[in-house]
Amino acid sequence: MSKIIYLVAGARPNFMKIAPLIRELEKRNLEYKLIHTGQHYDYEMSKIFFDRLGIPEPDVYLNIGSASHAVQTAKIMIEFEKVILNERPSMVVVVGDVNSTLACSLVAKKLDIKIAHVEAGLRSFDQSMPEEINRILTDQLSDLLFITEPSAETNLKREGIEQNKIYFVGNIMIDNLLMNLEKAKPLNTLTKYNLKSKDFALMTIHRPSNVDNAASLEKITEIINFIQEKMKIFFPIHPRTRKRLQEFDLEKKLVGSNLVLTEPVGYLKFLNLMLNSRVVLTDSGGIQEEASYLKIPVLTLRKNTERPITIEKGTNELVDTDFEKIKMYINQILTSTYKTSQKIEKWDGKTSERIVNIIEKEIIG
Ligand code: UD1
Ligand code: UDP
Repeated sequence: MSKIIYLVAGARPNFMKIAPLIRELEKRNLEYKLIHTGQHYDYEMSKIFFDRLGIPEPDVYLNIGSASHAVQTAKIMIEFEKVILNERPSMVVVVGDVNSTLACSLVAKKLDIKIAHVEAGLRSFDQSMPEEINRILTDQLSDLLFITEPSAETNLKREGIEQNKIYFVGNIMIDNLLMNLEKAKPLNTLTKYNLKSKDFALMTIHRPSNVDNAASLEKITEIINFIQEKMKIFFPIHPRTRKRLQEFDLEKKLVGSNLVLTEPVGYLKFLNLMLNSRVVLTDSGGIQEEASYLKIPVLTLRKNTERPITIEKGTNELVDTDFEKIKMYINQILTSTYKTSQKIEKWDGKTSERIVNIIEKEIIG
């Protein structure tokens, strides 16, 4: 049987997770192919990360693009099956919780090909979140489940996953962060946008629960305007959010001399902005982890998080869109009384090494 490993990526948060894996596979001369589903396709959502994170051109580009959940998932499955039938890899490695993750796992499992899931076991316990469905199903299909924090093990065991499939390896996003930290630090992003270090907020927002209905998106614009009264705010806009702002005619609410609106930015620039920010406001999964690691206060505009360790040990607090909570925490941040963070176990830059040790053993024996 072929020893080749397939690595699947499709959307922005996948690229940060495959970059350290690729580096490790190449170090050991392990044969792999990179499959890009094309779920994200704008330059700022995809190619920029290949260019800046040193990810090689994908071996296969499925060119799926945007569509409803069913259509997108089905199209990925149809195209990925053609690829996989041609070669039968020894293993398919999927990361995170996007539609590409579940679609490729389903295809691999039905063809009896082993699946490794990086970032397994995270649960928000909120099935109105499309990612929660992707997480639960991908984990049921996976043979190797690589987890980032202890809560994931409890979650997986509750769902009947055998202990011997679960590996606590740490957080691969932190590997990527550490690989790029020294490159990001000296970038001169602040001057370009007229920002001062530790004197601005960094904001990202893209969850359907926040942006897909007019009332909640309007509330987000009010939060942005509240923050603007306190400090500058840098807001690179996700394409889903950009589309909704136009559709609900809310762009006109986003004005003000303290507000910097941009297209999504590349990873190094984003990391530089995060390092210099006073506070991060977000509904992103990965950013809760990165900000916690960097000890930057992060207020998460969600009711729940699948990453509880970022609250227990990191700098994260859930604020939903609750003004009172936001005001309270912003006040703490501005008076330097906000909580501090502790070191998080195995978030140390060695996760990809741990993962590839296990994968190598599984494939080569
Ligand atoms: C997806 C993931 C989400 C992840 C997010 C990261 C799923 C179910 N969702 O959400 O978990 O947090 O990526 O960013 O997989 N669009 C563009 N250009 C692009 C990509 C998307 O314009 O390159 C627009 C399209 O109008 C599209 C919309 O954004 O319909 C949403 O894209 P989609 O990939 O379906 O979901 P995301 O919200 O990006
Ligand atoms: N990110 C980036 N540029 C941006 C916004 C985010 O490089 O303009 C990075 C961020 O540092 C993190 C990842 O994108 O590594 C998170 O992706 P996203 O928020 O899209 O997805 P999620 O983690 O919520 O699934």
